[in-house]
Amino acid sequence: MELEASVHLHAVKLMGVSKRYGNVTAVEYIDLEVGKGEIVGLLGPNGSGKSTTIKMILGLVKPDTGSVNVLGINVKEDPIGVKRKIGYVPESPRIYEFLTGLEFLDFTGDVYGMAPDEKKKRIEEFVKALDLEGREGDMISSYSEGMKQKVVIISALMHKPQLLLLDEPLSGLDPKSARIVKDLLRELASQGVTTIMSTHVLEIAQAMCDRIAIMYNGRLLALGTMQELREKAMMPESRLEDIFLKLTGTGDVKPIVEALMK
Ligand SMILES: Nc1ncnc2c1ncn2[C@@H]1O[C@H](COP(=O)(O)OP(=O)(O)O)[C@@H](O)[C@H]1O
Ligand SMILES: [Mg+2]
Repeated sequence: MELEASVHLHAVKLMGVSKRYGNVTAVEYIDLEVGKGEIVGLLGPNGSGKSTTIKMILGLVKPDTGSVNVLGINVKEDPIGVKRKIGYVPESPRIYEFLTGLEFLDFTGDVYGMAPDEKKKRIEEFVKALDLEGREGDMISSYSEGMKQKVVIISALMHKPQLLLLDEPLSGLDPKSARIVKDLLRELASQGVTTIMSTHVLEIAQAMCDRIAIMYNGRLLALGTMQELREKAMMPESRLEDIFLKLTGTGDVKPIVEALMK
């Protein structure tokens, strides 16, 4: 009993996880523990290994070394059991343009094996919450990028997953929609739902995440709250300051350091 309790203390645990593609090391010996109900951001520039890490947690990509445990399940041993508990928003989602938003969500609910009543209720709630009311019956091909992204987010949340893996979820969303998604994730977190999201935008990680994991060249360089990371970045010879600089895309150190101190 005690063993089981300790296994479930974390939602996600990566131990010594690596992935190579030919001679590119996409992810190099990552250790990461995420608690239940936490919102953790993977923050790093393009090519730093964020998407590969998310795919290994989901079981879409098999690690070369190490182990991945999700909600007490070893991903290698029970890949399907794990996927049932996860909602995934891929970096470039494929969405059926020839369906209406409603048809797509209805289809997704069926794939998850949801009961018709529950499916209908969840779709109505989310369509309302994400401000899609009135457009759900239109063809997806007529939607803006932001509306498509919202439909994909709903499709990932419908089956009440315990873990959300969101790969750059706010790309294409206007500030109001981003705010709605942010509030939704916070509400889900209070119900014990865990979120791991990737972003290459410092401000997004700062606004949405309890803790931030800084990735660079396949390595996890630092993990902590924004406050902890700022303190680390201020230390002499810290690489974090450099990384923050790259993330914010400017060559001038001073304004960045000032912004970080706020
Ligand atoms: N399927 C793949 N085949 C070959 N190289 C890949 C593949 N997926 C990712 N990579 C490489 O692995 C590195 C990390 O990529 P990725 O995890 O997508 O980073 P990020 O999401 O942070 O931009 C990059 O150098 C990328 O080119
Ligand atoms: Mg990526």
